[in-house]
Amino acid sequence: MLQVSDRLIIDFAADVARDLALTPKQLQSKYLYDALGSSLFDAICHLPWYRITRAERRLLEQHAATVVRMLGDDPEIIELGCGSGEKLVILAEALQASGGHALVHLIDISSQALEQSERRLGRLQHVSVVGHRDTYEVGLRRAAAARDPGARMLVLLLGSNIGNFDAPAADEFLRGIRGALAPGDFLLLGGDLVKPVADLLLAYDDPLGVTAAFNRNLLVRINRELGATFDLASFDHRAVWNAAAQRIEMHLVSRADQDVAIEAAGLRVSFARGEHIWTESSYKYLPEQLEAMGQRSGFDVAHQWMDRDAGFALTLFEAQ
Ligand SMILES: C[S@@+](CC[C@H](N)C(=O)[O-])C[C@H]1O[C@@H](n2cnc3c(N)ncnc32)[C@H](O)[C@@H]1O
Repeated sequence: MLQVSDRLIIDFAADVARDLALTPKQLQSKYLYDALGSSLFDAICHLPWYRITRAERRLLEQHAATVVRMLGDDPEIIELGCGSGEKLVILAEALQASGGHALVHLIDISSQALEQSERRLGRLQHVSVVGHRDTYEVGLRRAAAARDPGARMLVLLLGSNIGNFDAPAADEFLRGIRGALAPGDFLLLGGDLVKPVADLLLAYDDPLGVTAAFNRNLLVRINRELGATFDLASFDHRAVWNAAAQRIEMHLVSRADQDVAIEAAGLRVSFARGEHIWTESSYKYLPEQLEAMGQRSGFDVAHQWMDRDAGFALTLFEAQ
């Protein structure tokens, strides 16, 4: 039988082949997170210019007790794209203070992130942890299928992970989450807000070059895992604000006319000088756009908490 890691690598090769044949060429952002990519993302969260991690932590510290009170005793929690798991620890500590126990499902495509978050949450006495190294959709299906119908469920989608989906896909994704829940369950959604363009560009193209390394590491990963011949020095990192679409885009820009072989995908890809590979979208929202997205997907807004300084909102939705 195919292991999860085998299935993910087959999907990786097929997705790379399909997405590099598109115009413009693309690569899916979920593939940025191999072990090094996850470590680089953790480093990005410490950069002075990437303020949303600290802002979201502050909001969680201020409001975790309210979330826990609404959940009641012994909830089940699913975190989609948990990363290091640091933020979930804040909620778990509030739960401990209230004397509750939680069953926590951690879902992440990155084995490094999953192991780190499992270790972190596993240290807490009042939490039982189930890890799923898989995509959001597969992990959510598995976690929801195993649910105790008597427990209240909370799904966490933090760090503005929602921003990687374009508008119709974001609605569809939230509808999928709603479909896995029962009325009275909750979704806690962290969303990055529209802010001055200079701040956004610094967050995605930092002066230390950590975000550039995070982006270019995708080519390192394709070279290693798919036997490709990308020459790193021939691709530049670029972050652009697309005002009409309300999103930051990350690209890798070819510095020369060049051909790249990708053995596992059976491909030879030609790049013209200046041609881009689009590697990530990060949509930015107005607070009311985040509320409306949840409402269109079968949720009521229970609370919306904001850090106006960093431009970040945490919205607690209740399933209708
Ligand atoms: C931007 S990081 C955010 C991590 C964490 N939620 C936070 O707030 O710091 C996105 C995380 O989601 C994971 N991820 C991205 N796309 C995914 C997908 N399609 N399915 C499962 N995990 C995914 C990545 O591996 C990474 O750990």
